[in-house]
Amino acid sequence: MEPCARWQPEVSVLGEHVGEAHRGYGHARARMGAAVTRHVTIRCSSSAALADEEFTNRGKHSDCQFHLAWWRCCNRSLSAVSAGFGRVTVRRLDQVLGAAKLKTLLARDQPGLFAAIGELDWYSGSHRQWIDDLDIRACGRVLEVGCATGTLTSYLADTGYRVTGVDRSDDMIRRGRSDHPELDLSVGDAMMLPYEDDAFDAVIAASVVNVVDDAGAVLTEMHRVCAPGGTVSMLVPSASFTNEDFDTLLEKLGLTGFSQAALTKWHGSAPKMGRSQIETLFRSAELELADTHSYLDGMAIAATASARPD
Ligand SMILES: C[S@@+](CC[C@H](N)C(=O)[O-])C[C@H]1O[C@@H](n2cnc3c(N)ncnc32)[C@H](O)[C@@H]1O
Repeated sequence: MEPCARWQPEVSVLGEHVGEAHRGYGHARARMGAAVTRHVTIRCSSSAALADEEFTNRGKHSDCQFHLAWWRCCNRSLSAVSAGFGRVTVRRLDQVLGAAKLKTLLARDQPGLFAAIGELDWYSGSHRQWIDDLDIRACGRVLEVGCATGTLTSYLADTGYRVTGVDRSDDMIRRGRSDHPELDLSVGDAMMLPYEDDAFDAVIAASVVNVVDDAGAVLTEMHRVCAPGGTVSMLVPSASFTNEDFDTLLEKLGLTGFSQAALTKWHGSAPKMGRSQIETLFRSAELELADTHSYLDGMAIAATASARPD
């Protein structure tokens, strides 16, 4: 098995003991065979590790570094390799590989990224709770703006709503149609929604209003296509959620790997909105803010209004 030429990033994991390097390498070799271990380089600083020529002395520090340069190309289960490492190292390996997966998807496969994030418990759980809290009228027509690959759209359909998803990205919609052929998903711009006035009973958007060029235009459009008395709601990362809050949440959820990397990225990179900003935004769209609700211990905030009567 040859390494994939396009897969360059090197994954490094710091282990605490030289013994772990030996044990881990031995297990990896036993489980995965030469085809894999040929490409696994374990470097560590201790002379005790130099017995094997594939261990390279790194000199100064006392940790070990495991370099699994092309793990993604391996057809066999990565967990078979990681199972051979010490407990601490396995956890770190999991974290590093989680971060590497996130980085790769971000750079090369954004639809794949959103499909994967949509499967995570903390993400899908908070989004589903938001939908359930909205109490949209039974069997109502719902538009999800910025639906990406349709994960939440699919939940809305399963819940019994007549649902339509729209997203500006061709790639997202193509992946969404492939994953959920039963859904009505279309390419369209949230700032110029391709629907008639009053066409839906609820119009929702998760993590969209905070990333668009003109949030006021998007909310105004969401209002326009919502029938009088219907529900307009958006969920965005909250500006009042601090780094300390994040640490507490992370510990409480006990996440590892990709799930942890995704939550960390969402906290660190997604544009956030504060309450006063949201109030101003709703006013600009002639919506009266009726309710705000926090999810993920305050990490996300949902803001909801009733569409005005004609
Ligand atoms: C951060 S993602 C959120 C996706 C999904 N709602 C979720 O919660 O996982 C933002 C989504 O909004 C879409 N988007 C951004 N600007 C848009 C626009 N002007 N009109 C429609 N969709 C847009 C992007 O293509 C992307 O799928």
